[in-house]
Amino acid sequence: MIGIYLSGTGNTKYCVTKLVKLIDASADVVPLEDEFIIDKIKRNETVILGYPTQFSNAPYMVRDFIQMHASLWKGRKMICVATMGAFSGDGSGCAARLLKKYGAEILSGVHIKMPDSVCDSKLLKRQMEENKKIIEKADRKIYEAAKRIKQGDYLKEGLTIFSHIAGLFGQRLWFYKKTAGYTDQLKINEDCTGCGMCAEICPMKNIIMEKGKPHPGDQCTMCYRCICNCPKQAITLLGSKVIEQYKFENYINLTKM
Ligand SMILES: Cc1cc2nc3c(=O)[nH]c(=O)nc-3n(C[C@H](O)[C@H](O)[C@H](O)COP(=O)(O)O)c2cc1C
Ligand code: SF4
Ligand code: SF4
Repeated sequence: MIGIYLSGTGNTKYCVTKLVKLIDASADVVPLEDEFIIDKIKRNETVILGYPTQFSNAPYMVRDFIQMHASLWKGRKMICVATMGAFSGDGSGCAARLLKKYGAEILSGVHIKMPDSVCDSKLLKRQMEENKKIIEKADRKIYEAAKRIKQGDYLKEGLTIFSHIAGLFGQRLWFYKKTAGYTDQLKINEDCTGCGMCAEICPMKNIIMEKGKPHPGDQCTMCYRCICNCPKQAITLLGSKVIEQYKFENYINLTKM
């Protein structure tokens, strides 16, 4: 077994790592941007794939990765894990359907509610205490999912026709344009000091440093990693001002991991 994931602000990394390690402590867990990921996947029959839900869809980088490596999935047993701030409908189903098209066997879909990562919108902002409770509940969910996977009694969250309809009409249809491809809408303001951190951490290598200034390209997958980590809060995407930078690491000392 191997765990692979896209995680902008750490939620999905945490969930997939914990789930995989509960099932098989010796299994690898790697991000999609790992340079040897294809070889690593090839060595494993069962793959747990995790990602953050974006407008009830899988991030474009995840769908692109699946499509670019279409031959990789034939016969592989997949468990799709979608993390989300509130609602996804068929978050796990979005990748599962693609993987199935390329010959994968879908064992399970798991939905895990986590704190919201969109730090330049007020919409789903919660107090620290509330987020802490959400993470504790997520922990219990991960234990349950691991137990069931080990027993071969798989959760099917996000995989049914009802969840497909909920995801489609709940959000995806109305916001489809937002996740139809990569975006060029990342904005960097004059507070930027040119430290280069955003360019270093972007999983898409979408930000290039030139003459000490960051230049965002048109390959942003909206993961919010650079936006939540910029020391000057100079980066925005969906909103126009950073309200509160979210990083899962900030919760590590607050919750019993
Ligand atoms: C661009 C964007 C769109 C999002 N859309 C949704 C959504 O439709 N529903 C939802 O419940 N959460 C949504 N979220 C919240 C994330 O799915 C959630 O916080 C996730 O756990 C973040 O995972 P990460 O820390 O691994 O990146 C969205 C986040 C981003 C960045
Ligand atoms: S991380 Fe922020 S301050 Fe540093 S280069 Fe990027 S935008 Fe500028
Ligand atoms: S530019 Fe920022 S938000 Fe976009 S993919 Fe890179 S790190 Fe994520």
